[in-house]
Amino acid sequence: MCPAGSAALAFSVATVADKELSAVYRTNPKLNTIEELLMRIRTAVFFIVIIPTLAFMPFIAKAESVPLDQIAHVHGLAVAPSALPRLYLATHSGLFAATPDGLATRVSNLNADFMSFAAVPENPKKYYASGHPPKGGNLGVMMSDDGGAAWRRISDGINGPVDFHALTVSPKDPNILYGVYQGVQMSRDGGVNWERTGDAPEKLFSLAASPGNTDTLYAATMKGLLKSTDRGSTWQVAYPGQRPATMVRVTSAGHVYAFIYGTGLITSLEPELKWETAATEFRDRFLIDLAVHPDDPKLLYALADTSAVMTSKDGGKTWYSFEGSAKATSEKLRAGARIYAESCQQCHGVGGIGERPKDMYAKDEFGFVAPPLNNDAHGWHHSDSQLVETILNGSPRNERMIAWKDLLSPQDAENVVVYIKSLWNFRSLACQGARHMACMR
Ligand code: HEC
Repeated sequence: MCPAGSAALAFSVATVADKELSAVYRTNPKLNTIEELLMRIRTAVFFIVIIPTLAFMPFIAKAESVPLDQIAHVHGLAVAPSALPRLYLATHSGLFAATPDGLATRVSNLNADFMSFAAVPENPKKYYASGHPPKGGNLGVMMSDDGGAAWRRISDGINGPVDFHALTVSPKDPNILYGVYQGVQMSRDGGVNWERTGDAPEKLFSLAASPGNTDTLYAATMKGLLKSTDRGSTWQVAYPGQRPATMVRVTSAGHVYAFIYGTGLITSLEPELKWETAATEFRDRFLIDLAVHPDDPKLLYALADTSAVMTSKDGGKTWYSFEGSAKATSEKLRAGARIYAESCQQCHGVGGIGERPKDMYAKDEFGFVAPPLNNDAHGWHHSDSQLVETILNGSPRNERMIAWKDLLSPQDAENVVVYIKSLWNFRSLACQGARHMACMR
């Protein structure tokens, strides 16, 4: 249940108990033992609070929304075609939909570990998944045809129930699926019947079917990016070098995207593979999944190894975090930069480099200075909303960081946060907020 729900519940229990207590004292002189009194209160609480709450439980469970940065262990993502960006996140505990307001809402009735997740090209309602049920074991091949809400097992697969950690639907023929479990498995009838088509390369992380040929497959593996033109029976090197490939995706239009650890995001058009490096800014972070918006080939969404959801508006060259991305228009960035130059730069420095501790005038009585707001300090350990809160309400421990709420509106504070985030690298964006601990190793 969401925290707001439980707080409301605790509040109503207290109110009802108080009311009952005074009512009982006033109107019921016959009640003279404490036990009788308590019994009355418990009965009232049960009828007035518990029963109606139970009736609402399915609704609360369904509408459970959590901050996106609290969602850990995301294994896959897909973009649902809709006016507002809506991303499906396949997680350790079911399927969520994320929106750019920074919230994620549960979609699936199934609380399972979705180890693999595949959207069906040009069918916004149909999805496949595999992995583990909450109590252990394997899920087999799962299918939803209502946008990811209800799931049913349509097959065990070969030697199943299978636990595909990689799964892909052919963009050329949506009845053709490939999955990896004790070798490569292929289905020609939408996932009901399966045949084994080859040995899977060792340590395979991700699999993608080609839109050009239903026999062609790509595999991202520990030993690099591989390609098969015979349904996974034999494999060739698709990108030179032995660096690990952590992700591969191919769009219906034949754009191949892969992530090579230590190199970055590479891209090419099928069938000839002439690779270009789209971005190299990732440092020690990497991408584990990627989806392209069906209506805009330049609009990309990706999943970082930290489970952070990232977005690029320029075909993968520059990346922002998905949370706050709706706010990050160039207009707001310009407004934020203006406010920063006027009100913040005198202490936090040009480009957020911070005050130098050796400047004596900068220190307060405890030795604190205005910290860098770029990557160098820990501004990125805070979520967008925590940063807005600090700006509006100031620092409780240092009077130099005043509460700006008398001078700046919440909108101004959001714009400054957009500017501050524009100073961050991919690592800080992918490690922002609650995720920073995982990046401190
Ligand atoms: C007069 C100097 C001064 C000005 C002007 C100033 N700050 Fe600060 N700011 C500080 C100091 C000092 C701290 C450290 C507070 C602490 O350690 O608790 C701080 C802390 C912060 C933090 C918390 C950083 C972290 O890593 O936790 C943020 C965010 C911040 N300031 C944003 C701003 C913004 C945005 C503005 C402009 C609207 C601004 N500050 C203007 C001095 C200033």
